[in-house]
Amino acid sequence: MANTTMANMNTNSNSKEESKKMDEREAIPLLTPYKMGNFNLSHRIVLAPLSRSRSYNFIPQPHAALYYSQRTTKGGFLIGEASGVSDTAQGYPNTPGIWTREQLEAWKPIVSAVHEKGGIFFCQLWHAGRVSNYEYQPDGKAPISSTDKRLRKDIANNKATADKYPPPRRVRADEIPKLVNDFVIAAKNAMEAGFDGIEIHGANGYLLDQFLKDKVNDRDDEYGGNLENRCRFPLQVVKAVADEIGADKVGMRLSPFADYNDCGDSDPHALGVHMAQSLNEMGILYIHLIEPRMVTQFHKFDGTKSSLTPIRKAFKDGTFIVAGGYDRNEGNEAISCAAADLVAYGRLFLANPDLPTRFQLDAHLNQPDATTFYSHHPVLGYTDYPFLQPNPK
Ligand SMILES: Cc1cc2nc3c(=O)[nH]c(=O)nc-3n(C[C@H](O)[C@H](O)[C@H](O)COP(=O)(O)O)c2cc1C
Repeated sequence: MANTTMANMNTNSNSKEESKKMDEREAIPLLTPYKMGNFNLSHRIVLAPLSRSRSYNFIPQPHAALYYSQRTTKGGFLIGEASGVSDTAQGYPNTPGIWTREQLEAWKPIVSAVHEKGGIFFCQLWHAGRVSNYEYQPDGKAPISSTDKRLRKDIANNKATADKYPPPRRVRADEIPKLVNDFVIAAKNAMEAGFDGIEIHGANGYLLDQFLKDKVNDRDDEYGGNLENRCRFPLQVVKAVADEIGADKVGMRLSPFADYNDCGDSDPHALGVHMAQSLNEMGILYIHLIEPRMVTQFHKFDGTKSSLTPIRKAFKDGTFIVAGGYDRNEGNEAISCAAADLVAYGRLFLANPDLPTRFQLDAHLNQPDATTFYSHHPVLGYTDYPFLQPNPK
């Protein structure tokens, strides 16, 4: 079981008066400290990875420094938005990359802004696989995947995707080492940019998930068929990255239960447990699981009876992060009953830059505006969500 400590709340507020006010209240479970490997976190509220599509031409922009620093608290843990690991990895406009020198240099001031406020910042490494289009690929080639089957339905919009996502090219087994190496180079770049660690994106129907899940992976080589084979490439990526930068700086995100991006599995429990056991053996820092109730990325389906408990038990030595539809009460409950060590918040943190303070005070929350999630504007719906006004009394 991960090492947890329940001590007095370490406040994140800069002003002494605010700190005092916060100290006078009893710490809610979400605002208790936690030691994640070598990192001393002052609370359990994590910024979930959130693509914001404001990295023009795949280059992180200066406005991201303000966005991330707004969401930073001293000792808070932030996971950056999905960042492409190579020139075949992108699938959307204006998502950042971490494979070129220019991208690496552009990340540096953003990471520094988070560090200046005492935050701990991981870079999420991503390859979109077949969730891409010719326009994002070098020389207009087909996107790559575990399969040559195209994505049939865009689950988020429930639309057929014939125009959006063309049939991918099935990668050959002899191409896998190069793909693994792309993740290694990206991880090295992220560390050189100053990130404290990396999260490998194995969730939400992107390349690694396209290997993990049997609805998509229809291979008959050593990377397809049984569970062990389907997990082989994603685990090779984690092992190679951990060997390069240290397992104590590596996390992995998984969504075995989701069918997002037309990527489901017939036995998500077995998949989740197998991955958790294998990752535990590798000694990585954390796994980050999306709740079974999140069938799509945004819609909570409350009918599920599935639980993440067996997966948490299988990942017995590291930190367990959960995400997906959490509010304040559910987050407190997850921590107090030890269902999770940390809770990642996506949309609520996007809309409330001072979410830990608001949770501590049980204050009113700004509502996220979905129309600006992926707009390319450098300010609107990005850095203009209001902070809690100081209490005049
Ligand atoms: C605008 C937006 C962008 C997202 N981008 C990513 C991403 O880059 N990587 C990822 O793993 N998940 C991404 N997600 C999923 C979130 O990390 C999170 O799992 C999801 O929003 C559910 O959590 P919530 O209910 O707290 O919002 C994104 C979600 C949203 C709303």
